[in-house]
Amino acid sequence: MRIILDTDPGVDDAFAIMYLAAQEDAEIVAVGSVHGNVPAPLAAQNALRLLELVDISAPVAIGAALPLAQPLQTAEFVHGADGLGGMAGPAPRGKPVAESAAEQLVRLARAEPGQLTLLALGPLTNIALAVLLEPDLPKLLRSVVVMGGAVTVPGNITPYAEANFFHDPEAADLVLGAGFPDLTLVGLDVTEQTQVGEEWLSAVGELRGRRAEFANGLLDHYAGFYSRMFGRRSCTLHDPLAAAVMLDPKLAGCREMPLVIERTGTHTRGQVLADRRVLANDTHIVAAGADRTPVKVAETVDVPRFLEQMLDAVKVR
Ligand code: BDR
Ligand code: CA
Repeated sequence: MRIILDTDPGVDDAFAIMYLAAQEDAEIVAVGSVHGNVPAPLAAQNALRLLELVDISAPVAIGAALPLAQPLQTAEFVHGADGLGGMAGPAPRGKPVAESAAEQLVRLARAEPGQLTLLALGPLTNIALAVLLEPDLPKLLRSVVVMGGAVTVPGNITPYAEANFFHDPEAADLVLGAGFPDLTLVGLDVTEQTQVGEEWLSAVGELRGRRAEFANGLLDHYAGFYSRMFGRRSCTLHDPLAAAVMLDPKLAGCREMPLVIERTGTHTRGQVLADRRVLANDTHIVAAGADRTPVKVAETVDVPRFLEQMLDAVKVR
């Protein structure tokens, strides 16, 4: 699978990159950074650092500095001031390319129509900009996997919204309404089912090697945040699950539905709106987004299989 990665590293983004690097059938063709966990320029520096850690060479383009219609809001309180839980270390050897992430995505999709899979692990600003630049983008990509949203469960950054969608609700709505024929949404519905606790953290803690030591530094910070939040040492590997579902779609059980993102609610900006009624007939369906192309919403996940795959990825020396 040839992949364009859009990301805001970010501790769990870092684990997604480590996971992808360990899969023989995954090739990262290019990376775009986006604002989200940290500002987009720092996210690009972190993406370069992470690619160097796992010995992958791919261009990294800096993406959108701001959401489409709201001020920048980042999440250093979760991911640390450097976005990598204090593990960023020295500057990367490489530099970002001159092109923007949205331009890079459009150029590559046009060059290889139907060949590339997009994995979006941050706010969807770059993807929305790419759709505005190239309205045929949905036809040019092979498939899209997005980490974002909470369809059947509460949000994380607010009671109603998941962080990636909350950080740019207009972009999320534009992308989910753009007509991508094969878009899978890996939201909190499934990522929170894979929350790891003491047992998994200790198993990683026993591993040695460059990647494992880096992973343990990330986890010390990330599990520290979760401990303060939930009262027990744990953490959720949101972005790696999206990467795993992309490469192994049978890992998750999905249900297809059209989705809309709330943009005007006083308390509910960024919430996913889905018509989850089970109706005997649909002749009178009135629902926001009923005319949109359905997306595959991941609802169930094989947790043991995923956590084993993650552990194997961190074991790579
Ligand atoms: C998402 O928000 C970010 O903090 C994480 O990297 C992940 O992409 C989870 O809500
Ligand atoms: Ca992310």
